[in-house]
Amino acid sequence: MYLHHCTWPEIESYLSESSGILIPIGSTEQHGPNGLIGTDAICPETIAKGVGATANALIAPTINVGVAQHHLGFPGTISLRPSTLIAVIKDTIDSLRLHGLNRFYFLNGHGGNIATISAAFSEIYSADSTGSVPGPTIRLRLTNWWQGDEVQTLSRRLYGNAEGSHATPSEVSVTYFAFPDCVKTVPMSPKIAPRGTIRDAADYRRQFPDGRIGSDPSLASVEAGEQLYAASVRDITSDYREFMSHE
Ligand code: NI
Repeated sequence: MYLHHCTWPEIESYLSESSGILIPIGSTEQHGPNGLIGTDAICPETIAKGVGATANALIAPTINVGVAQHHLGFPGTISLRPSTLIAVIKDTIDSLRLHGLNRFYFLNGHGGNIATISAAFSEIYSADSTGSVPGPTIRLRLTNWWQGDEVQTLSRRLYGNAEGSHATPSEVSVTYFAFPDCVKTVPMSPKIAPRGTIRDAADYRRQFPDGRIGSDPSLASVEAGEQLYAASVRDITSDYREFMSHE
C-alpha cells in the first residue's frame, strides 16, 4: 500500500493490523553520464513498493533529497545539510507515530545518507529515553537496498569489478527497469572509471570528471534491473518481516 494512494480511512484500517511502515530514502544527485539524477531515490522507492505488495506493508512517500554535498559540482544535484535531513526524519516519525505507527523501516538508496540517518536515530532514541515523548516505544531500522545477500551475489555475478562504488551498473539497471523510457546509451571513456577517495565537491569533479567512481554503467540494462529488483525485494521482504516480528 502506497500511502499517497490511500484514503485516511484505509490508513486507519491498516493501523488496526500493523504498526509498521517502510520509508524509502534517497538522494537527488548526478549518477554519471548515463545514470538518472533520481537514481538513489528511484531504486529504494521501486523496491519498497515491491516489498509492500509482498509483505502487505504501508509505504511512505520517498524522502528523495539527501546529503549529497560532494556531488554539487555537477548540475542538477540538490543537497540537504545533515541537520536538515535529521529534522526531516524526526518530523516524519513524530507525525506518523501520533497515529499509532511505531516501527519505522528506512530503505536507503544512498551511501552518503547512512551517517546522517544513524545520527537521526540516535536523536530520536535519546529524546524517547528522557520519557518526554508520549506514545508507544518505537523501533527504527536502516537497510541499504543493495546490501542483501541475493543482490550482492547477483551484482558480483553480473558486473564483477565493473560494479564500482558510484553510478554502478546495478543501480542504473534498477532505474532502467523502473523507467524503461529513460534508458540512455552513452559511450564510457575509460570503460571502467578510476577509483579513489574524495574530499569535497570541487575535488570530486576534478578527480572524477564524468561523475562515476570505479564503475562501468554502460553495462546497465532493463533485464538486469528486473533481476536485481526481484532479488532485492526478496532480501528486503525477509528483513522487514524479521524486523516486524521482533519484540
Ligand atoms: Ni547511487
